[in-house]
Amino acid sequence: MVHFTSVKDIGPLDQAISEAFEVKRNKFADSSLGKHRTALLIFFNSSLRTRLSTQKAAENLGMNVIVLNVQQGAWNLETRKGTIMDGDKPEHLLEAIPVMGCYADIIGVRSFARFEHKEDDYSEMILDQFIKYSGRPVISMEAATRHPLQSFADHITIEEYKTKEKPKVVLTWAPHPKALPQAVPNSFAEWMVAAGYHVIITHPRGYELDEHFTQGAEIVYDQQEAFRGADFIYAKNWAAFRDTVYGKVLNTDSSWMVDNRKMELTDNGYFMHCLPVRRNMVVTDDVLDGPRSLVIPQAANREIAAQVVIRRILKNLTQFDL
Ligand code: CP
Repeated sequence: MVHFTSVKDIGPLDQAISEAFEVKRNKFADSSLGKHRTALLIFFNSSLRTRLSTQKAAENLGMNVIVLNVQQGAWNLETRKGTIMDGDKPEHLLEAIPVMGCYADIIGVRSFARFEHKEDDYSEMILDQFIKYSGRPVISMEAATRHPLQSFADHITIEEYKTKEKPKVVLTWAPHPKALPQAVPNSFAEWMVAAGYHVIITHPRGYELDEHFTQGAEIVYDQQEAFRGADFIYAKNWAAFRDTVYGKVLNTDSSWMVDNRKMELTDNGYFMHCLPVRRNMVVTDDVLDGPRSLVIPQAANREIAAQVVIRRILKNLTQFDL
């Protein structure tokens, strides 16, 4: 593996899951692999799980880790090419990225959709510049359109808890007061279809995702119908994708919140969410705190997913002539 930005980079999923279970059995088996190597983790946006799990995974492999919060202490970065830099951004990504590459062997980048220009978001303008100009393997720690480390951790979690070969996995939109990117649902849908599960996506009309990510999944507009017989319910809010309303909150209809009454429609299904989650907005306390909630195992598997990805990249580093 060179870069990790989507499910396509991980290769056969059964092999990735086997590796994940191997790493989970002994996290320190390769604790010298990253000796004298540095992981630079760059955050344009806030994080709890991704920051901690990716740092922990790199350290399990013996790496040094530098975390850079772009909004705190670094120069404010211009990101668009051709801009006259007469504003409040004194440094351009075009210099900053190769400079960062001088100090790192692997670079992790978190850069959410900004909802300013859909074409910038959906062309992955920032992540792609890191891939082009850093000269280093790049790991997406959630970019504008995908969150592959989260999806990989979700896949590991489902493999641990499933009781059927091909479980019914339902991704449900849930209400939220703010406009959230489509990266988690895009990535989850794409990954779950690739895993061969029976994938249903349910949301109010107007919240259709980019079909590029959802092909192979069934769209059901009736949330209760979607929940019937489900093995896993994955709740997530996202803002509208369609051009005229891109990045907008179309409604915050509380009837879409996940509660125990809806969970009773499932086949004793598990509840999943990537976190952070707004209680009693996205999901009720009793579901989140209940025995079928997998949100903490999902978070724990973030470390495992990151470690599999970093381990593969470290084993491949000679390609980068280091
Ligand atoms: N799920 C997830 O990516 O969490 P953070 O935003 O806290 O990293």
